[in-house]
Amino acid sequence: MIYKIHTIAISLFFLIVFSGFAIAHFAETKPTTPAEEIEQTRELHTIMRLLLQNIHTVNEGVYTENYDLIIHGAQKINDHPPLADESRELIRSVLGDRMSVFGSFDNTVHGHADSLVAAAEAKEMDRVLRHYRIVQQGCVNCHSAFKDEIRSVRLNPDKN
Ligand code: HEC
Repeated sequence: MIYKIHTIAISLFFLIVFSGFAIAHFAETKPTTPAEEIEQTRELHTIMRLLLQNIHTVNEGVYTENYDLIIHGAQKINDHPPLADESRELIRSVLGDRMSVFGSFDNTVHGHADSLVAAAEAKEMDRVLRHYRIVQQGCVNCHSAFKDEIRSVRLNPDKN
C-alpha cells in the first residue's frame, strides 16, 4: 500500500512537471508577427521594402548626425536575407545575359554600403555623403534599367 502511494505521488509529481513544460512550450510558440514574417520572406520586392527601411535609417542618421544610426542602416543593407530561389529564377529568365549588369549594380550598392559603414565609424560626414550618394545612385540605376520589366513579369507571368 505504501509503495502504491509512493508510486502515485511520484507519477503525479512528474505529470505536473511535464504539463508545466508543455504549457510553457505552447506559450512560446505564438503566431509570428508581421515583422517576423517579413524577415522570413525573401522575394525580391520584399527585400526591396527592407532596403527602403534601411535607407530611411541612414537618412535619419545623416540629418541628426547620429553615426550609430548610419552604421546600423548601412550594415542592414548588406545583411538582407538571401534571395528566394523563385525570385532568382524569375530575374534570370527575364534578364538572360544582362544578368551581369544586374549583378554589377548590386555590387556597387553593397560595396559602397561597406564604405559607408567605415566612413560613419570614422565620423566623417563628407565621406559618408559621398558613399551614400553612390549607394542611392546604384539603387536608382538598377531600377531605371530593370525594375518595370521584372515587376511586370512577376505580376503577369502568363502574358510574357
Ligand atoms: C540590382 C538591382 C537593384 C538594386 C541594386 C536595387 N533594387 Fe530596388 N528593385 C529592383 C527591382 C528589379 C525591383 C522590382 C521588384 C518587383 O516588383 O518584383 C525593385 C523594387 C524596389 C522597390 C519597390 C518595392 C515594391 O514594393 O514594389 C523599392 C522601394 C526599392 N526597390 C528600393 C531599393 C533601394 C532602397 C535600393 C538600394 C539600397 C534598391 N532598391 C536597390 C532592383 C534593384
